[in-house]
Amino acid sequence: MRMYDIIEKKKHGLALTRDEIFDLIEEYTAGNIPDYQMSAFLMAVYFRSMTDEEIFDLTEAMATSGDIINLSEFGDRSVDKHSTGGVGDKTTLIVAPIVAAAGGIVAKMSGRGLGHTGGTVDKLETFDGFRTSLSPEDFSAQVQKYGIAVIGQSANLAPADKKLYALRDVTATVDSIPLISSSIMSKKLAAGTRSIVLDVKCGSGAFMQTANDARALAEMMVKIGKAHGRNTAAVITNMDVPLGHAIGNALEIKEAVDVLCGKGPEDLRTVCLTLASLMIELSCSIPADKAREMAREILESGKAHAKFCEWIEAQGGDPAAAKDTSLLCTAKHVKKICAESDGYMLSCNAAAIGTAACVLGAGRQTKDDVIDHSAGIILLKKPSDFIKKGEVIAELHTNRTGTVAEAEAILRSAFTFSCDKVEPQKLIYEIVN
Ligand code: URA
Repeated sequence: MRMYDIIEKKKHGLALTRDEIFDLIEEYTAGNIPDYQMSAFLMAVYFRSMTDEEIFDLTEAMATSGDIINLSEFGDRSVDKHSTGGVGDKTTLIVAPIVAAAGGIVAKMSGRGLGHTGGTVDKLETFDGFRTSLSPEDFSAQVQKYGIAVIGQSANLAPADKKLYALRDVTATVDSIPLISSSIMSKKLAAGTRSIVLDVKCGSGAFMQTANDARALAEMMVKIGKAHGRNTAAVITNMDVPLGHAIGNALEIKEAVDVLCGKGPEDLRTVCLTLASLMIELSCSIPADKAREMAREILESGKAHAKFCEWIEAQGGDPAAAKDTSLLCTAKHVKKICAESDGYMLSCNAAAIGTAACVLGAGRQTKDDVIDHSAGIILLKKPSDFIKKGEVIAELHTNRTGTVAEAEAILRSAFTFSCDKVEPQKLIYEIVN
């Protein structure tokens, strides 16, 4: 294979063969193709796209570039969920125990926060002692015993994607549907579950800003999953506005536990029940309406909360804090942000809210930043709410008082208001399966 010829071929919009794609990925992962040539190739893909067949092959080549987790002992019951990333997205904390309590096997690798978006692994580390890294033997034993384990991504899972993603990040080639879909699905295929449910976020806080782009990404990922023999479905959900009211690690854990205890915000509960139902439907092979009923019963009866407490304890976390969230860490300073005039909230830019939470310490602004698990934002008002002058719209929680002025400015820039009544936004746009 001559890399020059591959770039030339893609530059002219021609399809690569399976052998060419596998060679390309193998040679790049081994360090035999320089980044400048791979960058040129990625840019050619960005402009010329790929055929479905090329995308399936690229995904498989990246998935098989490292370890493949073997979950075959669980038959059809193993199931994974992936979110394309959002603000206030604590759905895994709620959905995973619902599905495990229904008999699904949730053996999952999750990520850390990235940019303005939060990550499940950071959230789980709010629990003192929680281990986000388990040996393969401990991971397997925990999944056998409890039906649930969530850890950080192993270093050798789809290493080709890891290297390519870092390059895409600095060559303006992230936002390409063939490249995003193959990147996400390579990790899902390597993670080994029989079923995969994708939460494709759409709106100001998401990669995909429009419904059309979100649908195209969802459809492509479902096609990739099916082409590789996995039961795959996707839900397109609103990320124009943060999900729920809490943004920040301990604050989100508390909100997730509220939902598990039958309280908490309706939008979060609805998205979680939709995702959990699909996961139960696929992993337990039962019809959609029965799966939905089952998910609701498990949530309302307290079985999901009991499974959550069992899971946190099994991974070394403090089970007392899973039962009583007043034991979680809290920030020393809480600043209330009040409305400057009467009006309806028109929009609440999720990316800006996520950035403000990062500034307060809830996320990393550089790779080496240390997270303050107690920091974050509580949104007391959301779009379509009527707000009176002086009413509290949001609370800023932090231990780093020097960050408050900047976070407040970013937060205020996130909101727009209207004198006219505002209709609530759609929460779930579509299910693709
Ligand atoms: N998440 C991924 O894992 N890959 C992408 O390309 C985009 C988001």
